[in-house]
Amino acid sequence: MEKYIIEGGRPLYGEVEIQSAKNAVLPLLAAAVLTEQKVVIHKCPRIADVLNMVQILCELGFRTRFEGEELKIDGADAANHEIPAALAKEMRSSVFMLGSVIARFKKARIAYPGGCDIGLRPIDLHLSGLRRLGVTIDEDGGYIDCACEKLRGAEILLDCPSVGATENIMLAAVKAEGRTVIRNAAKEPEIVDLAGFLNKMGAKVRGAGGAVITIEGVSKLHGVEYTPISDRIEAGTFLIASAMCGGELELKNADADNIASLIHKLCEISCKIYAEDDKIYIQSKRRISPKLVETSPYPGFPTDLQAQMTALACICEGATVIVENLFETRFKHVPELIRMGADITVRGRSAFIRGVKTLKGADVFAGDLRGGAALTLAAVSAEGLSTVADLSHIDRGYSGFEYKLRGIGARIRRVRI
Ligand code: UD1
Repeated sequence: MEKYIIEGGRPLYGEVEIQSAKNAVLPLLAAAVLTEQKVVIHKCPRIADVLNMVQILCELGFRTRFEGEELKIDGADAANHEIPAALAKEMRSSVFMLGSVIARFKKARIAYPGGCDIGLRPIDLHLSGLRRLGVTIDEDGGYIDCACEKLRGAEILLDCPSVGATENIMLAAVKAEGRTVIRNAAKEPEIVDLAGFLNKMGAKVRGAGGAVITIEGVSKLHGVEYTPISDRIEAGTFLIASAMCGGELELKNADADNIASLIHKLCEISCKIYAEDDKIYIQSKRRISPKLVETSPYPGFPTDLQAQMTALACICEGATVIVENLFETRFKHVPELIRMGADITVRGRSAFIRGVKTLKGADVFAGDLRGGAALTLAAVSAEGLSTVADLSHIDRGYSGFEYKLRGIGARIRRVRI
């Protein structure tokens, strides 16, 4: 196991290059299954979730190779339809593979997916969507077995705008016979990116980014070269780092429009932010409480920035209520923040926070990806020495997190325990 040792309390100054979005790259890797031709993903981050997904592609018979930041995928010889249980359990996104594997091989087998333990996270909408497209699904002994003669376009209404279910259905529907309409679809920027990628492969997807996505199935998809969108959650994490520590940052390869809800909140608490082209500048000094932050689907405040925002609210002047509307148990970082001197009470889906002047260094444990990032920011802003373990969660989503933080003045290093 590895941990960070952090000596906190220094302001952050400098530039940070934002990686491509984890949540965009993962479904693109699933989409690569849809063609026998070559796929090249530029600026592909080497985070653990991506490496796991690449491993799944290898198990399916794809040849994959990183050349610098470029990931090359060749599916000419792929013939396997089974995703090994060990890999499926490592990450929830393995479930995206169902849609594309079934579209290509007419059968798919996967163990129930794992991922961050932040709530129940069912996959019923994924499965009912695929059933609507003509897939027969058997769930037995922790495995999901899918088969179909052929995929048929269908009208699909999602009970809630699930990101993963929308993507999974898109991945199967692009090769279905006829038209598929997904209503109450998720509107996240990563869905728009997936549609852009699929259309570049020859698919016919319209309406992504809105609540209704229409897909005209095609019989064949071809190879593609693509640069995914930048990671709005990584950008948001660094903006919050700046708000917590003070100083001045410039984020490069960042898209302010995709995190407008966060930027709005940070401006409210008196950060100065302005954006130009693909850069975001932030200057932070005094912090007043954001009062109320409620997570909701895009374009609302992202649940993936809730933990980091909770850490920030701990050192804002005044009281804040944070409401987590998407996932049931996404407050695992709270007891750890309390160890650092935070004043937080959790009742159900709400955290009530009374701001303290500063957090104090402590030994804390990261229980999930974004909670781990939040604790790291808390430690970087805190007075004194902290340790943050276990880094395997943080490594799932942030490439070179500590290098980037060190580059802007944080005192942080990684050690093996
Ligand atoms: C994706 C993101 C994750 C983010 C989340 C919400 C990826 C790889 N992950 O996760 O980082 O936190 O969106 O923005 O893109 N639900 C059901 N049934 C289903 C599917 C979902 O009830 O079949 C519920 C979930 O329990 C949850 C809500 O829908 O309460 C949203 O989940 P969903 O949008 O599917 O999140 P993920 O795709 O898992």
